[in-house]
Amino acid sequence: MDLKKVKISGIGKAVPERIMTNDDLAKIVDTSDEWITQRTGIKERRVSDDKTATSDLCIRAAEDAIKMSGIDKDEIDFIIVGTVTPDYFFPSTAGIVQKALGIGKCAILDIEAGCSGFLYALAVARRFIAFGGYRHILAIGAETLTKIINWEDRNTCVLFGDGAGAAVLSPADSESCILSDALSGNGNLGDLLIMHGGGSRNPISQKILDDKSATICMENGRDIFKNAVVSMYDMAHETLNIAGVTTEDVKWLIPHQANLRIMDSVIKKLGIEKEKLLVDLEKYGNTSAASIPITLTDFVENGTIKKGELVLLVAFGAGFTSAGTLLRW
Ligand code: COA
Repeated sequence: MDLKKVKISGIGKAVPERIMTNDDLAKIVDTSDEWITQRTGIKERRVSDDKTATSDLCIRAAEDAIKMSGIDKDEIDFIIVGTVTPDYFFPSTAGIVQKALGIGKCAILDIEAGCSGFLYALAVARRFIAFGGYRHILAIGAETLTKIINWEDRNTCVLFGDGAGAAVLSPADSESCILSDALSGNGNLGDLLIMHGGGSRNPISQKILDDKSATICMENGRDIFKNAVVSMYDMAHETLNIAGVTTEDVKWLIPHQANLRIMDSVIKKLGIEKEKLLVDLEKYGNTSAASIPITLTDFVENGTIKKGELVLLVAFGAGFTSAGTLLRW
């Protein structure tokens, strides 16, 4: 079977206007700008207001991505949203985006793969186009994690922020295309990062609200740190091996933006020069599924990533999931 090559034809991002600095957080919990900066590399994050849901950020990011791709919105035949903070349990956020964009007929799907959500969405979208039948797919990574944060828990509230990044995937007519991808998961580590309350195991009740268990629970940051380094290293190698290239061929590396020390450990283990590491974590914090497409958009827009360069994307996240994508921009 002749599989089609697939490219990213447009990208875009959206973040809420409100900035919350480390000093702002130090007024709420027992922390400091120095601690957060040294342990994570984060200086500030964006926080959405009461009226803004995940789909609102998706829509803004998607509009930019569609504009850049040059297609008409009605040419989109699939919308995939990677998120752990959907507007509702159902209907899907992808459906809300479809309605808001005014797209008449297309497939809609939400993917729940934690911070690897955008790369999972890319991998699914790529195959639908590669096998034929679908031409232009909107793949989005988006979160409003600040809505599920316990603002009394300094272990977690300093880490996360809100945002969305979108990509339009289309058939490729040149060397600029996705070269390889890889997905993985390890449910045995699921408890490391979990929201205990609000689902079918522990439905919403007064107790869930009182003990704040419908918020992010992360009891062992160090274990997550270690697993993040190993899994992103493994995914980087697997993705490069499939494409038959080495770390030396890679021009830019965009890891999931969770913690600068995690990213530093990954490049050290991979033997990749620091100059190749693209980071904007200091501005947004960990935006989960949105972090990679936001960083990709930022560094394409500022001219750092140029046509023809190899860009390696690697992610890890709740689940535990991990993923890699290698593309020639
Ligand atoms: N401000 C000040 N002190 C804090 C703090 C905060 N916001 N959060 C935790 N601390 C304290 C801890 O209570 C601990 O105090 P103790 O020594 O008195 O017990 C101390 O800082 C050190 O904690 P430790 O867990 O050893 O710090 P660390 O160097 O591992 O850094 C993380 C903590 C969370 C930054 C780090 O483990 C990490 O980034 N892990 C990965 C988390 C992640 O990426 N999650 C999302 C995955 S998608």
